[in-house]
Amino acid sequence: MLALAGEVAGARVLDAGCGPGFYAEELLARGAEVVAVDFSEPMLELARKRLGPSIDVRRVDLRDALPFADAEFDLIVCPLVLHHLEDRLQPLREFHRVLRAGGLHFVISDVFADPGSGSTNRSMRKPASPIAAHSDVRGSRQ
Ligand SMILES: C[S@@+](CC[C@H](N)C(=O)[O-])C[C@H]1O[C@@H](n2cnc3c(N)ncnc32)[C@H](O)[C@@H]1O
Repeated sequence: MLALAGEVAGARVLDAGCGPGFYAEELLARGAEVVAVDFSEPMLELARKRLGPSIDVRRVDLRDALPFADAEFDLIVCPLVLHHLEDRLQPLREFHRVLRAGGLHFVISDVFADPGSGSTNRSMRKPASPIAAHSDVRGSRQ
């Protein structure tokens, strides 16, 4: 996934549902400015330990509005998270709002995978609307 993201040095990246911070760590190593969020305090503790005190690691529940400005991020990664959520459109709407035009959003999840087919990797440029994003995701099964 990070190879697909290409050059991330200097990019502002949201790691949504960061868990212990593996992706955030790799993004930081590649020169990105990372904000790592999760709703689990134990996960946030692990992420803080991994990433260090200078990195913005905060408690955010992806079921709620994101505490970020419109178009604040160049890239959003959300690996293995959305299948935990009942309403996946809400976070996708919010990702759409906080992603700059032309930004890149990655979801790696098994949300739309057929049973037993394993995980499905998806990425998209910011589409015209979150509804389009949702239908693109559903329609772009490969
Ligand atoms: C399987 S882990 C993936 C962690 C990380 N993205 C990775 O790939 O290593 C799923 C993560 O999603 C987080 N999560 C689940 N529901 C969430 C929610 N509503 N808001 C924020 N984080 C959530 C969990 O706390 C957990 O850290």
